[in-house]
Amino acid sequence: METIIREYNADHPDAAVMQQAGQILRAGGLVAFPTETVYGLGGDALNPEASAKIYAAKGRPSDNPLIVHIADKNALKVLSSDVPDMAWKLADHFWPGPLTMIMPKADIVPRQTTGGLDTVAIRMPSHPTAYELIRSSGVYIAAPSANTSGRPSPTTAQHVAGDLSGRIDMIIDSGKVDIGLESTIVDLTGEVPTILRPGYITKKMLEEVVGRVEIDKAILSDKEDPNLRPKAPGMKYKHYAPKGDLVIVEGPADAVAAKINELTDELEGQNVKCAVIASQENIDRYHAGCVMNIGQRSNEESIAANLYAVLREMDDLGVRKIYSESFSGQGLGAAIMNRLIKAAGHQIIRVQD
Ligand code: TXA
Ligand code: MG
Repeated sequence: METIIREYNADHPDAAVMQQAGQILRAGGLVAFPTETVYGLGGDALNPEASAKIYAAKGRPSDNPLIVHIADKNALKVLSSDVPDMAWKLADHFWPGPLTMIMPKADIVPRQTTGGLDTVAIRMPSHPTAYELIRSSGVYIAAPSANTSGRPSPTTAQHVAGDLSGRIDMIIDSGKVDIGLESTIVDLTGEVPTILRPGYITKKMLEEVVGRVEIDKAILSDKEDPNLRPKAPGMKYKHYAPKGDLVIVEGPADAVAAKINELTDELEGQNVKCAVIASQENIDRYHAGCVMNIGQRSNEESIAANLYAVLREMDDLGVRKIYSESFSGQGLGAAIMNRLIKAAGHQIIRVQD
């Protein structure tokens, strides 16, 4: 299959691009498109064959459910048999935007889309291209991140093409995404809303709207614990992983730099290609041949926006060992560290002054 790649600039919309994409979606094909978080791989959420194609294109385990993207809040009533009151409240505050809500599914949503579950994940994205695609196609769009399963999520159309070219019908290119990390997922099927995946919308922001909110224990621990099973099936897989071996080094900046320099000096002495993922504030402290600037500690949004591109770059450079600084676990930092720790397969070295 040849993958069509077309640019779309929402400020100067080209209706022909949306027409072509809409036709593909209505016929059961796959279209990758930008959202404000990451690029998604879209198919008709109510067409089980389209969902099956999504799993096949990504090489994704079929028990890992897809998120259904909508362009109008009222679609909640179509897709859920019992929309929780809190869902309306949260939708009013955070939609369109990077929040996904889990609720009981309606019969019309096929189990192929929900990974066999009786619940459905729904989100209304704020990216104008995503909005226009959902609206103009007339289709509810099931879309996981548009990467090959196990690779970092794509933040540009080039990342999507690198992973899925020849396996999907079309890619809509609207440039780099804004946030760079996947949406916050909140489960509304229990008594207390529970965060299953941290993201740009933080626990504190949710609590300001609905009161108490919990976080799924399985995603809090920085060790892999076989007794804790994440409630979002996707969170149990090793994910976001670069090909090189990634280790996080945590502690005061001086001690971290000293430790990383010691490790990379030794490896480079043995001709092992190494890289360091550093914040802009500390970048001059490192010796290694390849030091990548991931953004500024003083601006966590810059780190979120660069994280996946930096991990992909590591693959392109063919580095075998990667050391990364650690970041604050608060607010957006919680989402950054959640992804980084998974990418590192939970390998963390703690150092002190
Ligand atoms: O920002 C995002 O959410 C992006 C863009 C494209 O919208 N999408 C995305 O999809 O990250 P994906 O498939 O990569 O991640 C979906 C996550 C998985 O961890 C999956 O297990 C969880 O959502 N999920 C989906 N439906 C669920 C359900 N009914 N119950 C629990 N978890 C669910
Ligand atoms: Mg994903």
